[in-house]
Amino acid sequence: MSIIKSQIAVPNKRKLFVKSYGCQMNVYDAGRMADVLAPEGYDETNTPEDADLVILNTCHIRERASEKIFSELGKFRDMKLERQALGKETLIAVAGCVAQAEGKEIFRRQKAVDVVVGPQNYHRLPDLLQKARTSGRVIDAEFASEDKFDFLDRPSAEKTRSRGVTSFLTIQEGCDKFCTFCVVPYTRGAEISRSAAKIIAEAKDLASAGVRELTLLGQNVNAYHGQGLDGKIWPFERLAEEIAKIDGISRIRYSTSHPKDMTLGLMRAHRHNPALMPYLHLPVQSGSDKILAAMNRDHTRAHYFDIIDELREGRPDIALSSDFIVGFPGESDEDFADTLSLIEKIKFSAAYSFKYSPRPGTPAAKMNQQIPEVVMAERLSAVQALVEKQRHEFHHAALGHSFDVLFEKPGRKPGQVGGKSPFLHGVHVEGSLDLVGQIRSVEIVASSGTSLEGHLKETQT
Ligand code: 5AD
Ligand code: SF4
Repeated sequence: MSIIKSQIAVPNKRKLFVKSYGCQMNVYDAGRMADVLAPEGYDETNTPEDADLVILNTCHIRERASEKIFSELGKFRDMKLERQALGKETLIAVAGCVAQAEGKEIFRRQKAVDVVVGPQNYHRLPDLLQKARTSGRVIDAEFASEDKFDFLDRPSAEKTRSRGVTSFLTIQEGCDKFCTFCVVPYTRGAEISRSAAKIIAEAKDLASAGVRELTLLGQNVNAYHGQGLDGKIWPFERLAEEIAKIDGISRIRYSTSHPKDMTLGLMRAHRHNPALMPYLHLPVQSGSDKILAAMNRDHTRAHYFDIIDELREGRPDIALSSDFIVGFPGESDEDFADTLSLIEKIKFSAAYSFKYSPRPGTPAAKMNQQIPEVVMAERLSAVQALVEKQRHEFHHAALGHSFDVLFEKPGRKPGQVGGKSPFLHGVHVEGSLDLVGQIRSVEIVASSGTSLEGHLKETQT
């Protein structure tokens, strides 16, 4: 699990430390919380000891998530006591999916926590902090209603801060799919899409702030069905078509998609919309039809292959990544062999794999035939070894080819600048930081198996 400490500089007097766990949605939300708190005088710090407000932005998906959070909270409690002894205010807030799922339990187990806030209520953080100061600890983990997107829809002047060359943009939230292993439908609520007008206005702001690549985010991003500019409901590919028209936006990515929502229109858009990058993260979770049914994925192995065939027909070079769960209840050796054979057949450029972990309140947690830890560990190693081999092959296959690279930041070695190919390879070249923000053709001359090195070609795009 990645741990990201977000850092945003704004002028003023109080200090905020946000520690984020988990998915891209959480990274994005951390930035949003900082935005909401900036007018309250909160300036982000990297050092929790300096912070007047600590937010733990939690993720509930992975193993023992809540145990890790409580051990982290114990450390923050000690810090709070030390600061209190010096007469300094320290508020502790728990946000994210654990806050949503465990609510009052967090207060019961850790007395130092002042605010518990669910992902749909971050726009209320300033009020919640004020209430905590005046009348004690406060919890706000209700599922929000229409005001859910208020948080995302604040006036653009407030939220345009430098995000570099690439940026996330939330277009959809929540999930109605209820995969039997997953807490998201319970923690993030029902699926809801922002209107195209709001998304496009924000995309334009980002483009004028120098962003060239947007990653459109949503728990079920390709289920997007927001109100279009013409008043009709737009599918994802229509929105992407409109975003591609914005001056300065050269690249569009999106995450995370569900196979069920890979419509023909979207698959064809990968052929027709040159801004849609030839890379798709499409979680399949398992290669066994029996397990897919038990997971309530509502698609089969054959359907997944059909999607990939259709995508590759339009974009034979499209790079694919996925998520896998090993050791779902009832997964036999044969079922697991089906997962390996699916990976063998498709050939991924990357993938995330997890041991199944029962989440309280989900149907799979009550299923018989839970798989022993040792079996899960073996299966996980097998999946990871195979995916790692494919990742190396994917990188080595790039040797001798030329890609358009969007340069984003200093490269791995001194004197290098780094960026991404359309296929999401990390690419490093000798060059100056003036290249940041430019898309340049690069000839690939070396591969480490996980990233590439190349030479700039003359032409500028
Ligand atoms: N156990 C293991 N992995 C899980 N994921 C979600 N819930 C669980 C769980 N209970 C994985 C899925 C999902 C990714 C974000 O996390 O593979 O696609
Ligand atoms: Fe969870 Fe399934 Fe929804 Fe993805 S599609 S968020 S795995 S319930």
